[in-house]
Amino acid sequence: MDSKLRTGAALAILAVAAPLIWAGVGAGPAKGGQSAVSARRVERGKYLVTIGGCNDCHTPFKMGSNGPEPDMARMLSGHPESMKLPPPPAPSGPWIASFAGTLTAYAGPWGISYAANLTPDKNTGTGGGVWSEEVFIKALRTGKHFGTSRPIQPPMPWNWIGKATDEDLKSIWAYLQSIPPVSNHVPDWQEPPAGSPQGAPAAPKK
Ligand code: HEC
Repeated sequence: MDSKLRTGAALAILAVAAPLIWAGVGAGPAKGGQSAVSARRVERGKYLVTIGGCNDCHTPFKMGSNGPEPDMARMLSGHPESMKLPPPPAPSGPWIASFAGTLTAYAGPWGISYAANLTPDKNTGTGGGVWSEEVFIKALRTGKHFGTSRPIQPPMPWNWIGKATDEDLKSIWAYLQSIPPVSNHVPDWQEPPAGSPQGAPAAPKK
């Protein structure tokens, strides 16, 4: 190879390699930083969801050998769509509310509410539709369904969970997006019938 050709070849290699090296320098640390943040959030979110009791309502209970236990194969997938419920028993004296055996459906003065599917399933959970990190945080801060529409009904403790810091709510969201999606269409809240002994829905006044 004469020296001109050698220089030409070297330049050609540089021309191809330079953008790659540049991209490596530019994107490497930023990407690494982002995935470190999301790994940290998923870990923290798992801890918060575990101690925050979300499974108590959002994971259906099944009968185990030692009594009722959360069915972790359906973790956080909400009220099972296969469970069709008869009308709830009428309230009696101070006994104003009843729960289904799965602990995922609740009848009371607010009508009938069903624990939502928090798994990232695209069609029935938080992995599609209107859901995003922003909507999730807004719902828990405002107590509005999807952050904008009707009031979120009891016994969802949004008023307490919504007091968490932005970073903690982002962590809960990151963890929920990381768990196995479960396809399960949860029924929407049913208002109590007009004039029913259950009374009016317990809608928080603005
Ligand atoms: C005591 C039962 C209970 C607990 C504990 C609970 N939830 Fe819920 N959750 C519900 C019910 C019931 C609904 C459905 C309410 C409705 O349809 O208005 C709901 C709905 C939701 C929704 C949907 C809100 C919307 O916009 O409609 C999200 C998100 C949610 N819960 C997250 C959580 C998280 C995260 C935790 C734990 C930190 C948690 N929940 C703990 C009962 C509970």
